[in-house]
Amino acid sequence: MLRPLLAAPSANMRILITGGRGQLGQALQAALGAHEVTALGHDELDVTDADAARRALAQARPEVVIHAAAWTDTADCERDPERALAVNAGGAGCVAEACAGAGAAMLYVSSNEVFDGEKGAPYEEDDEPRAVNEYGRSKLEGERLVRSALGRHWIVRTSWLYGPGRESFPEKIVQAAHDRGSLRLVTDETASPTWTVDLAEAIARLVREPRWGVYHLTNSGYCSRREWGQEVLRLAGLAHIPAEPATQAEYGGPYRKPVMSALANVRAARLGIVLRPWQEALCDHVRVRAQAVEKAESSR
Ligand SMILES: NC(=O)c1ccc[n+]([C@@H]2O[C@H](COP(=O)([O-])OP(=O)(O)OC[C@H]3O[C@@H](n4cnc5c(N)ncnc54)[C@H](OP(=O)(O)O)[C@@H]3O)[C@@H](O)[C@H]2O)c1
Repeated sequence: MLRPLLAAPSANMRILITGGRGQLGQALQAALGAHEVTALGHDELDVTDADAARRALAQARPEVVIHAAAWTDTADCERDPERALAVNAGGAGCVAEACAGAGAAMLYVSSNEVFDGEKGAPYEEDDEPRAVNEYGRSKLEGERLVRSALGRHWIVRTSWLYGPGRESFPEKIVQAAHDRGSLRLVTDETASPTWTVDLAEAIARLVREPRWGVYHLTNSGYCSRREWGQEVLRLAGLAHIPAEPATQAEYGGPYRKPVMSALANVRAARLGIVLRPWQEALCDHVRVRAQAVEKAESSR
């Protein structure tokens, strides 16, 4: 449900994507097909290497850099906060400095986990962030570094990504249902599941708009992690698999997640960019995934 833009789209652009082989990086390449895209994987550009970032920009001469590279394993970030900060904040800082030097605009992909989850309602772009885990702190520091390096930036906060090209929560739930026959899913963590395909399309619209600042982009609506898992099970024909409720504390992860960190997509909606409900996107993801599995099996 992306409404037409208020402003006419600008001409095709040269766009560089960092983290180009991650799940969002792959979806961005597909969504930005009309542009001249350079997508660099981790082995081609380590974003913590400032010289390498400058060289990559000098070579690709992008008008826009979409910074999708990050260390996204929340548990590992909790165990090694220094590395989390070096990759997620330091890496964003290196890319931002390179953008400032090369005259490129930068879109930094950030997270719902910059919020503490205590508001009790969806967070708007102007709400005060306060992270409660190391991953969130590193993403928030990345926002600060981007903001201080260049004015021509968009900070796009999103949440609970899943999509083609990586085994994410939906695939793990289906696998666990087959393996174990029953599940325990967390009820005290709420956000918006967001399909990378929809997010990438929304970002492709946003980068045509030189209206800088913070944006929240997620599929609309929100749910607990248990409700997300139950919807995955239903769509996969596994509704009979019990999904017992559990709290984060009972689950025993090494980190704390914000209890309610859904994001209100206020600023993008003003530009006519509105993502459809998360249930519809999830339904498409499950269908696309099933088709891909069927195709792979028939070609064996
Ligand atoms: N996943 C979510 O639920 C979620 C939610 C909110 C926001 N976000 C944000 O969305 C963005 C995209 O996430 P994603 O889900 O697409 O994650 P992803 O699939 O893990 O992709 C991230 C990519 O970054 C690469 N990377 C890691 N360290 C790097 C470095 N030092 N230099 C260059 N590349 C590096 C990774 O490569 P290797 O795997 O080879 O290291 C990976 O390909 C990130 O900024 C993330 O913080 C994600």
